[in-house]
Amino acid sequence: MKPRKILESIPIYVGGKPIINKRTIKLNSNESAFNIPKKIIKKSLKSLKNLNRYHEPTGLFLREKIAEELKIIPENIILGNGSGEIIKIFIESFVESYEKIIIPQVTFSLYEIYSKLNGNTTIIKTNLTDGLDIDLNDILEKADNKTTIFIANPNNPTGKSYKYQDILQFLKKLPKETKVLLDEAYIEYSENYDPSIYRKLIEEFENLIIIRTFSKLGLAGLRIGYGISNSENIAQLNKVRPPFNTNILAQYIAYNLLEEKNFIKKLTNFVKKERENLFEKLKDINIKTFKSDANFILIQAKENLDKELEKRGILIRNAYSFGLSSDYYRITIGTKRENLKMIKALTEVLT
Ligand SMILES: Cc1ncc(COP(=O)(O)O)c(C=O)c1O
Repeated sequence: MKPRKILESIPIYVGGKPIINKRTIKLNSNESAFNIPKKIIKKSLKSLKNLNRYHEPTGLFLREKIAEELKIIPENIILGNGSGEIIKIFIESFVESYEKIIIPQVTFSLYEIYSKLNGNTTIIKTNLTDGLDIDLNDILEKADNKTTIFIANPNNPTGKSYKYQDILQFLKKLPKETKVLLDEAYIEYSENYDPSIYRKLIEEFENLIIIRTFSKLGLAGLRIGYGISNSENIAQLNKVRPPFNTNILAQYIAYNLLEEKNFIKKLTNFVKKERENLFEKLKDINIKTFKSDANFILIQAKENLDKELEKRGILIRNAYSFGLSSDYYRITIGTKRENLKMIKALTEVLT
């Protein structure tokens, strides 16, 4: 079969390598190192009754729960089969195929893949600052009223994030018609996180959609995320969203996870604390690190470090595929034991 011409220029999404055996330490995909409490799964399975029937197509009960947490309304929320799906739905709903799309030079690869799939879209890459922050001024210079902008905050793979104050200032300076997708996949791990900001954001900025995910909180395998915007925008996105795109089990488990506030708090606090510990330990062995606000740390070291660690059963991610040089690596924060082993292996290889 002859594929569409456009596929010639579309790269295949590269994820982290899967686990090789039971002893593999997987620090290459920014997942949570911890399983969710078993009681959440038990409770959710009990709720599964009529699997022979289609469920309510928009995941209303989960949208109500998220809305309550974020002080917005369910009509401000759309669920996705992972937040990645919302990126695709957003582009298909709002970006004409001839429009320009701004993507930071070093960031999550799906923005570019889905943008290219959209047709003749011109992709404009913007710089990072010397400290590897997304250069918001460069974006402002390059954006006009027919542009769509992708910003991951915190960014992947750098882990760098902006305060909402800076994001608000930035949004105010853009033309009103410029569309922005603010990707908050890692926001729970950021010191800048403010769950009360969303109403203001979506009321003030009509051309903004924010995406978030349960993947980084322990549900990567279930595929569930969501988009937040004003209800008019969400209604448009719903025209493109595949029917029943999120399954009922994922909806129940996400709902019950949100009820377990203590688990989420413990998880995010652990990661934040461990992140600081790891910075110190990495510094001790003279590895260049970049301050991170996410559940991973970017480091710069020698070439082929990932291969050396893989020999020792530890998977980390080379950041080359994100647009950095091949001596940069992204390391997901694991359990205490996993992190100790990772530091031990790095010490062996590098000192
Ligand atoms: C910045 C960013 N956005 C979105 C996603 C997609 O996550 P998911 O589709 O699992 O919600 C990821 C996944 O790693 C990511 O790093």
